[in-house]
Amino acid sequence: MVQLSSTLDVVRKSLNGATSRKERSKIGQFFTPAKIARYMASLFQQGRREVRIFDPGAGAGVLFATLIETMIAKKQHPHSIIVTAYEIDKGVIPYLKDTMERCRMICMSAGISFRGEIRDEDFVAAAVAQTDEGLFAAKSERFTHAILNPPYKKINGESVMRQLLYNAGIEVSNLYAAFVWLTVRLLEPGGEIVAITPRSFCNGPYFRRFRAALLGMMSLRHIHLFESRKKAFGDDNVLQENVIFHAIKETEKPENILLSVSNGMDFDNITVRTVPYDRIILPGDRDAFIHLTVSDEDSCAMERMGRFTTPLDKLGVEVSTGPVVDFRARKYLHKLPDKGTVPLIYPCHFKDGFIQWPMESTKKPNAIEASPHTKDMLVKAGYYVLTKRFSSKEERRRVVAAIYDPNLIGDSLVGFENHVNYFHDKGKGLAPNLAKGLALFVNSTLFDRYFRIFSGHTQVNATDLRKMRYPTRDQLIRLGSHVKNHMPDQDTVDTILKKECENNG
Ligand SMILES: C[S@@+](CC[C@H](N)C(=O)[O-])C[C@H]1O[C@@H](n2cnc3c(N)ncnc32)[C@H](O)[C@@H]1O
Repeated sequence: MVQLSSTLDVVRKSLNGATSRKERSKIGQFFTPAKIARYMASLFQQGRREVRIFDPGAGAGVLFATLIETMIAKKQHPHSIIVTAYEIDKGVIPYLKDTMERCRMICMSAGISFRGEIRDEDFVAAAVAQTDEGLFAAKSERFTHAILNPPYKKINGESVMRQLLYNAGIEVSNLYAAFVWLTVRLLEPGGEIVAITPRSFCNGPYFRRFRAALLGMMSLRHIHLFESRKKAFGDDNVLQENVIFHAIKETEKPENILLSVSNGMDFDNITVRTVPYDRIILPGDRDAFIHLTVSDEDSCAMERMGRFTTPLDKLGVEVSTGPVVDFRARKYLHKLPDKGTVPLIYPCHFKDGFIQWPMESTKKPNAIEASPHTKDMLVKAGYYVLTKRFSSKEERRRVVAAIYDPNLIGDSLVGFENHVNYFHDKGKGLAPNLAKGLALFVNSTLFDRYFRIFSGHTQVNATDLRKMRYPTRDQLIRLGSHVKNHMPDQDTVDTILKKECENNG
């Protein structure tokens, strides 16, 4: 017999063909492939007799249908299944109805009582009303299983949706987090959720309240990540930005969390690790970051980074994004240095750990006029540590740092372009050896690996760098004494870090 999930995969492909990627992304519509749906369904702890499944943003219904299929295939299957699905797109409702009908039929053949309800309305508004504990709130059902691939969409700060959520005590900047948060509220005690979402909630600064709510209400049991061994673009690359997680509604935390990784959608070859809960969510971490340590090397990096406890502000160091947005400042930019201009620094000026300027071969401008119009974009020349904000997935390192040495460049002011972050001391340069030591630390393999555990995306944001912990000032200065006019090679950088900061404290 053809599996329902396989039939739905055909539906998914035709729906994907019918609407452009751009249109689908407007409403956060990406349909889950059957392989992923089957894996997600397999993560639930089975065994309930009466099942109430919830699928908000159901699309054509692949997720709940696959879960039902998985439950029926078990020896001990449920006696009754109730499904509630929300979907706002009128275009997919006929497919959803069809899936619901097929589910009714397969349940009937298996002797399971079935009831399915499709709600073609905005899930957020409906759920806020249902979970509102106020006097006039509608008393609503609670679910035993929630399976979802929520829409990914920024929620505008001024929007009605943001206000509605805020009034319900939900502060999120993306619709996917609102979907998960509301869904969790709708679970009965002991109820389970399996969701595929972007991994940005694990460390994003805007997801702090979401993490606190999720980890407060739920016991996180399993997180699955995708890696891609292929260099090519495609579904796998998109997948890498996502995680699947399984959690149970209970306040007691588990001792361990399962962390698994598959190469794209190859779920037959999964690597699974059991990691202590407090290695993933560090006790006392007010940000409640979720550290995705998928290998022994990652665990080792976590442990080693644990020795560095100095926050940037204790070092008297700040980090900011370069203030020169080139397309806004276009009329002040010059290809090459000229009278009345000062250096303008882009990532293309990074060379062997130092800023090499000017760079005649680059298409980017090398200079910016110093005038009353640009004065707020410029800083006094001094020792700064710069990092690139963007790297490609294929690049060996995620974090790349270079030192701005004023003696090698020789102007009184400098502009840092928006594609770089810069470490500074209240807008001014740093002590030379502190800058050099900081650049060495940031360029170490350890820092790069830890950063990848911490952040799934290829951007290196100033906020992420602010959240990291660093060696003490003395240690950084000692590290800096090893850097002369170029950054040592990677092995030497790593050896210096070990020798100066780890072997002798
Ligand atoms: C990422 S897709 C996933 C679809 C389906 N669950 C799957 O896995 O294939 C999210 C779905 O949520 C729907 N959606 C977006 N905003 C919604 C809202 N406010 N209320 C209900 N559904 C919504 C979209 O139309 C889309 O079908």
